[in-house]
This record gives sequence, structure tokens and C-alpha cells, in this order.
Amino acid sequence: MSSVQLLGLRKAYGDRVVIDHIDLEVRSGEFMVFVGPSGCGKTTTLRMIAGLESITAGELRIDGARANESRPAQRGAAMVFQSYALYPHMTIAENMGFSLRMAGVPRKQRREAVERVARTLRIDHQLERYPRQLSGGERQRVAIGRAIVRQPKVFLFDEPLSNLDAELRVSMRVELSRLHRELGTTMIYVTHDQVEAMTLGERIAVFRDGRIEQVGTPMDMYRQPRTEFVAGFLGTPRMNMLDRPRAGASPAHLALWRALGGETLPRAARLGVRAEHLRVDAGAAADCAVGVVEFVEHLGGASMLHVRVDGVDGAWTAQIHGSDPGAAARGQRVGLCAWPGCVHAFDSEACNLAT
Ligand SMILES: Nc1ncnc2c1ncn2[C@@H]1O[C@H](COP(=O)(O)OP(=O)(O)O)[C@@H](O)[C@H]1O
Ligand SMILES: [Mg+2]
Repeated sequence: MSSVQLLGLRKAYGDRVVIDHIDLEVRSGEFMVFVGPSGCGKTTTLRMIAGLESITAGELRIDGARANESRPAQRGAAMVFQSYALYPHMTIAENMGFSLRMAGVPRKQRREAVERVARTLRIDHQLERYPRQLSGGERQRVAIGRAIVRQPKVFLFDEPLSNLDAELRVSMRVELSRLHRELGTTMIYVTHDQVEAMTLGERIAVFRDGRIEQVGTPMDMYRQPRTEFVAGFLGTPRMNMLDRPRAGASPAHLALWRALGGETLPRAARLGVRAEHLRVDAGAAADCAVGVVEFVEHLGGASMLHVRVDGVDGAWTAQIHGSDPGAAARGQRVGLCAWPGCVHAFDSEACNLAT
């Protein structure tokens, strides 16, 4: 187990700055997730930690010691890629034992290590096969197994589940969590998928344009997003957002702003409220804004109402319980307001006024 510290880390390709001053400490044994939209610098950061990419400025410390100049093999990090990157002409056992062979580990010991890891990952019956004979999920397990065999100090995962179908992704998420519990090794996991980040990470770092926007536990970030970007990035459906009404705004826009408490927040430029925190009244109570149900998404246990408010861009989503007696139908007029304490207010710089 090892800690990984990034101190003012920077990466530029020529005069193009891709990573701009990242400060982060990944604790020993922690499962840290880097999440953010495509192109925000997650892979580049991971590759700098692995030693596959040079560091332009700042310092990388592994277990407290500067590692900027260490060769990849010395850093004790094992990387797992989205593409699996297995050797096609080697069997699964040979693929998994390759790094041990390079390190001069005798055949018998190699075999034992590979078999032990293969059992953990439930691929022990496939050791004599070739990668092309395995499914995508099995190949990804081999790639993970190959990393485990090396007993690294830190695992670096770069979108390892992106090539798998939805169902397999869910079961692999559970397996990765179990693996982390069993091994106790520090893991840094990159994904653009906020659901994966929320479910896997002990802490998550939200990346945006080469910087880290916020770091914290998934629920802290969900409940107290520091910026509008984090608020909008984490959680499905996206947080509903309302601009402060300007001169000429529609009466419904003004009513919604009032219903969400905007009038008591002089510094608020925008208000945000999540679908599960919107209250929907079929009767359109006096303190609510009125909208029209445009579409109802039935999810089984719950339903999502897409509500159009006159003069407000886009539809608002409100979550109601499937059995809710007030469950509205398409075309119906409903009242919208928020549960107390559930509205996020953002200032003109898109920072959360409450954090
Ligand atoms: N070798 C390179 N030369 C120039 N720009 C690069 C290079 N590699 C990555 N980039 C740029 O760096 C940015 C971050 O890329 P990347 O780290 O791959 O993002 P992510 O993994 O978050 O999708 C992108 O804009 C990408 O185009
Ligand atoms: Mg990437």
C-alpha cells in the first residue's frame, strides 16, 4: 500500500497546457476515482503517475518520496487500460505471468501466483486459452489479473469497463469493489461515467479542463457540490437549473423563482434543485409555480415527470413515487415547489453560496 501525492502537477504539450496545477493526496489503501468529461486530462494525469508521460512541473510523490524521475517499473504502479492490451499470441496464463517472467521469477512460483489470482477472478478454468477465445468481460479480468500478479503498490485503472455491456459493467463494479476490499491496495480509477464514480469511489475528484473542481466522498459531493459544474455533473437526471428572472420574465418563471426561495437569496444568480427534491402538487398549491407535464417516464418504483414551465428553457424533471396518488399524466397542469433546504443557490461565478 502506498500514498500518492500530486503537488502542483502540470503538463504541457508545447505551449498547450493540458493539466494546470493539480494538488491531490490519494491516501494509502484508498479507492480514488477521477471523473470528468472527455478531454479534461484524466488519462494524462494517470499516465504521469505511471511514468508513461513526463511531468512538466510540480511534484509526484509515492509514499512520500519524489518519483518524477523514477522509471515506470520502479514506481510500483500497475496500469489497466480500456483496450485490455493483452498479447494475442500468449495464453492467458502466459499473459498473466509475463511480468513475473521478465522479473526472473521461477516457473513454479509464477504458476502458483497466476493460479491464485485467476481463482480470485474466476478465470482459473481458462488459463490455457488465448485472448481471442475469451469474451470482453473475461479479457478485462485477465488484464486486471495481470496487474494483480505483480503485487503493485498502486493500481491505475483507465476506463477499464467502458468496452463492456451495461449488465457486465455493473457486475464488474461489484467485483472491483470486492477486490479492493480483499487486496487493500491503493487504487486510482479513471472514468467519464458519473454513476461508476459515485458507486466505486471512496472519494472522487471531479476534473474539468485540466483542473480538479472538487474532491470528496460521493455523498458529500452530491449533497454539497461546491460549483454548478459539479452539481450538474453528478447525479441523474441532471440537476434542474433556473436563472434569476430578468425584466420581462414570464409570470411562471417568477413564480418558480419565488417557490424555490430565490427572493430570500439576493446573491443568487441561479438556483438548482434535484428531481427527487421537487414537490409536485396535482392541485397546484398557492406557493407553487405551475407547469404542464410534457412526458412521463415510468421507471417502475418511481416515475420522472418532465414538466414545462412557461418562459423557462428546457423541461424540468421531477421524481415521484410510482404509487404516488398525485402521479400526473401527460398534459396535466401541476404545481412545482421544492422540499425545504433542498435548493442550491449559485452566484454569478457559478459557486455554491452554501459551501
Ligand atoms: N500527446 C499529446 N499531445 C497533445 N495533446 C494531447 C496529447 N495527449 C493528450 N492531449 C490532449 O490533452 C487533453 C487531455 O487528454 P486526456 O488526458 O486524454 O483526457 P481524458 O482522459 O480526460 O479524456 C486533451 O485535450 C487531449 O487532446
Ligand atoms: Mg481518457
